[in-house]
Amino acid sequence: MKIKKITCIGAGYVGGPTMSVIAQKNPNVEVTVVDLNEARIAAWNDDDLSLLPVYEPGLDAVVGEARGRNLFFSTDVDKAIDEADMIFISVNTPTKTYGKGKGQAADLKYIELCARQIAAVAKSDKIVVEKSTLPVRTAEALKSILDNTGNGVNFHILSNPEFLAEGTAVTDLHNPDRVLIGGEDAEAIEALVQVYEAWVPRERILTTNLWSSELSKLVANAFLAQRVSSINAISELCEVTGANVDEVSRAIGQDSRIGAKFLKASVGFGGSCFQKDILNLVYIARTYNLHAVADYWEQVILLNDHQKSRFAEKIIKTMYNTVNGKQIAFLGWAFKKDTNDTRESAAIYVADHLLEEEANIIVYDPKVSAEQIYKDLDYLGTRSPEENRRLVKVVTDPYEALDGAHAIAVLTEWDEFKGYDWETIKEGMKRPSFVFDGRKLLDRKQLEELGFSYYAIGE
Ligand code: NAD
Ligand code: UGA
Repeated sequence: MKIKKITCIGAGYVGGPTMSVIAQKNPNVEVTVVDLNEARIAAWNDDDLSLLPVYEPGLDAVVGEARGRNLFFSTDVDKAIDEADMIFISVNTPTKTYGKGKGQAADLKYIELCARQIAAVAKSDKIVVEKSTLPVRTAEALKSILDNTGNGVNFHILSNPEFLAEGTAVTDLHNPDRVLIGGEDAEAIEALVQVYEAWVPRERILTTNLWSSELSKLVANAFLAQRVSSINAISELCEVTGANVDEVSRAIGQDSRIGAKFLKASVGFGGSCFQKDILNLVYIARTYNLHAVADYWEQVILLNDHQKSRFAEKIIKTMYNTVNGKQIAFLGWAFKKDTNDTRESAAIYVADHLLEEEANIIVYDPKVSAEQIYKDLDYLGTRSPEENRRLVKVVTDPYEALDGAHAIAVLTEWDEFKGYDWETIKEGMKRPSFVFDGRKLLDRKQLEELGFSYYAIGE
């Protein structure tokens, strides 16, 4: 079976970049990405490629190449479902905020809505691909909805989780370590293999059963996050023993059995997925009464929460136990560099902690808007929106944030921060001039020579 038309439901951080690359590499396949969010679709269609709704290095060139040729963005979900041979579901699967499993289980309402819509509209056989990250055995529920509410056509379900990381989405998609496809029907699996084979070597395309594929996605994120929490736990030990966490990372990472990646200590991991997916794993384990397994993985989250509050506490303690009315400049708000995504960013929680102590925060992030920053703080519900706007200012010129500040906190590892004129910054700051580097980004020697009091995680 040769796929001619692909539809993807969900034009977010995964659907947009993934489908853009599939279209780029398969010029003979028509790819349509649909979303209910009209503003998002309008932004994907904007002539000005710098206004795409997702900021990813290199994405503008990919979209520029394929859009209008065989890549389309639309809000007409029914039409796109009707015409496709293969439908990717790439909608959000956030942590539930209500009812059973609140705060842990994945909320599958958007997935179910997609399944019901596909079933209602489809008049020919379809391959339905789970691209969203889902609890293990979701395909079973999907199949039941499709078969029971559909028009008698055949649906084959595949699991094809996405492993791209934000900030490097395009290079990850162009050159994936592996593509994972889980399924039961050999012909459907082969159809999807052929889409990826347009640019991914065959030996990197792994095929498994549905449940292994669904579970592997949760496990991959859990292992990655576990490494960050492990090194962050060690960072606290380094601070009291005189060891340096970067040196420890290098020393252990050179062991090829351990490996060097994902050993960078930080203010804590963020992003839309690590926490959500581990909580989901914990919930699944508890559902099967596997409490030791659940407790083990939950600790990765608890340590991450500890790391964020420990950083905020360090700031308060170092600044003579009071930050009330003091100006603290935040460099960075995104959860990592090279993305405009702020979901679960450590910056949000550190800010919230400091705002409880009545600090004045001035934020500069090269890619995140003021609107987004206020939205993130308002969402916590810790204080009123007016109060958040009174205590937090957002600027588009970093030097404005730093001028007159009592302290600087580095929350995101944007490269540009390293190249700032630190001598001028020092002159404009209050004394003592504190720098709290949550990313171990800046040069301790340079800053100390300029007279800063410099603290970095794990040193
Ligand atoms: P997102 O919120 O950026 O995008 C999801 C989109 O789906 C939204 O634009 C929303 O409007 C749309 N949508 C929801 N219901 C819809 C419906 N019924 N019809 C049409 N559109 C609908 O989310 P995301 O970051 O792209 O993540 C999507 C999935 O991929 C999640 O399951 C996530 O865990 C997984 N994932 C994300 C990443 C990542 O880096 N963000 C990486 C790998 C996997
Ligand atoms: C992560 C995974 O890396 C992807 O494989 C996966 O597809 C994705 O989640 C997902 O399912 O959403 P992402 O969250 O975009 O990707 O970015 P990462 O590079 O993994 O970083 C996550 C967080 O961990 C960031 O806050 C980052 O700063 C932090 N981190 C990462 C560290 O603090 N130290 C490290 O050594 C690595």
